[in-house]
Amino acid sequence: RQLPPIVNEPIRSYAPGSPERASLQARIKAMEGERPDIAVVVHGEERRSGKAVNAVSPHKHQHVTATWHHATAQDVHDAIESGKKAYKEWSEWTWEERAAVFLKAADLLAGPWRDTINAATMLGQSKNVFQSEIDAACEMTDFFRFNVQFARELYSEQPISGPGMWNQSEYRALEGFVYAVTPFNFTAIGGNLAGAPALMGNTVLWKPAASAMLSAWYTLQLLHEAGLPKGVINFLPGDPVMISDIALKHRDLAGVHFTGSTGVFNSMWNTIGTNMSSYRSYPRIVGETGGKDFMIAHASADVQAFAVGVVRGAFEYQGQKCSACSRIYVPKSIWPEVKARITAMIDEIKVGDTNDFSNFMGAVIDQRAFDRISGYLADAKQNAKVIAGGTADGSTGWFVKPTLVETTDPKYRLMCEEIFGPIVTAYVYDDAKWEETLKLVDETSPYALTGAVFAQDRSALKQAHAALRHAAGNFYINDKCTGAVVGQQPFGGARASGTNDKAGSKLNLLRWVSARTVKETF
Ligand code: SER
Repeated sequence: RQLPPIVNEPIRSYAPGSPERASLQARIKAMEGERPDIAVVVHGEERRSGKAVNAVSPHKHQHVTATWHHATAQDVHDAIESGKKAYKEWSEWTWEERAAVFLKAADLLAGPWRDTINAATMLGQSKNVFQSEIDAACEMTDFFRFNVQFARELYSEQPISGPGMWNQSEYRALEGFVYAVTPFNFTAIGGNLAGAPALMGNTVLWKPAASAMLSAWYTLQLLHEAGLPKGVINFLPGDPVMISDIALKHRDLAGVHFTGSTGVFNSMWNTIGTNMSSYRSYPRIVGETGGKDFMIAHASADVQAFAVGVVRGAFEYQGQKCSACSRIYVPKSIWPEVKARITAMIDEIKVGDTNDFSNFMGAVIDQRAFDRISGYLADAKQNAKVIAGGTADGSTGWFVKPTLVETTDPKYRLMCEEIFGPIVTAYVYDDAKWEETLKLVDETSPYALTGAVFAQDRSALKQAHAALRHAAGNFYINDKCTGAVVGQQPFGGARASGTNDKAGSKLNLLRWVSARTVKETF
């Protein structure tokens, strides 16, 4: 059976005066007044008995966008039972039947739901229109469509047979439930962490991030409209400690699909480790965690391309991508020019309410993030040199100016720790120390998510490629270190950045099946 052609969803430009822009702006305006009462959803039933909390817009933090309810312990237990009930049928649907749900969800998302999911992401997570479009609209659509293609490839992989015998691989869903814990920074990651295991026949407990509740809620509605049966994905907003404590210690935990901080992932893994003897099967643990992503320029680099790459890689979505550029290495010979160009661009960047489509940056996600990032700014003022930006204002929204810092200490805190905000720190190296600098890049951080090298000299590229083999799971040559596209750059890193089970690839889907080999003799 042929699949519909799978191609990346084209990015809309929302040009001034275009009908697309007018339609999205109208949807944002309407959503500002809607304030949905977001429920826990167990087996299709909306529950609102737990504590109610307001969600706000990061760029207008007095504006309530929604109310949501905490799952109770009973809700979590019921969700696990619901998943078991749903599993019986869902895991026995043919894979094509399950695929149809996700292909339909993709078409809805790319069509009638597009404005809603973008409006929710812009209002709730303070993404500008382009950042929302490439995430909530395009990347989520791509995940749903490409996963179907990868699943087909996976299911068709069969062992060899011979005369008198037929060998088959049967790709079963995991026995139990998958616990999906999703981050605020990509609406698409929410859809994929819950969606990918579900496509492979599993049932999922989905714990969405509190600060992305609006877009997670609409993602769930969309999947149900596409025909996802009740109980396949149960929706559990709430206290991560309580929910994880029940989910991670449950005998039927079959897998964890996580994106978030390294610390939280480590503690989840520890919980599983200490409960190891209580599970029916070894849980599959898949996590994409932190990053301290780098961009390194060689003396032969195209200065303008590097400067633009740094500005986009470091400041798009306020630096809140796990892939965001956070440390740069620049040779002395080109530093004055690089610095001047980055500074000039920073001076031009508009920060503000993302409802105004001319703003390049919105606010950081919440007060906790604002305070943490402000702490790094204070440190930079004291212990390094702030070249551009360096201010923050939380009076009406959690706004932080894009900031360039320079340090003479390659092991300075801001060169090593994940900041998750719009600060990039530069270390200027001697042109003659290119090879030592590559070594330094590799050894400075425990993370290994993304990185980039800029050079026109082919042998320098070759050296960086080899020296940084393990320093990044996504390595870019003459391009910024963010913006992986599903089907084009499978995404993920190793070391402290996660299990590197490449989101948006067959490698990821492999984790959600457990193969049975069947040999029949004739
Ligand atoms: N996939 C995103 C990027 O590459 C990060 O999650 O920027």
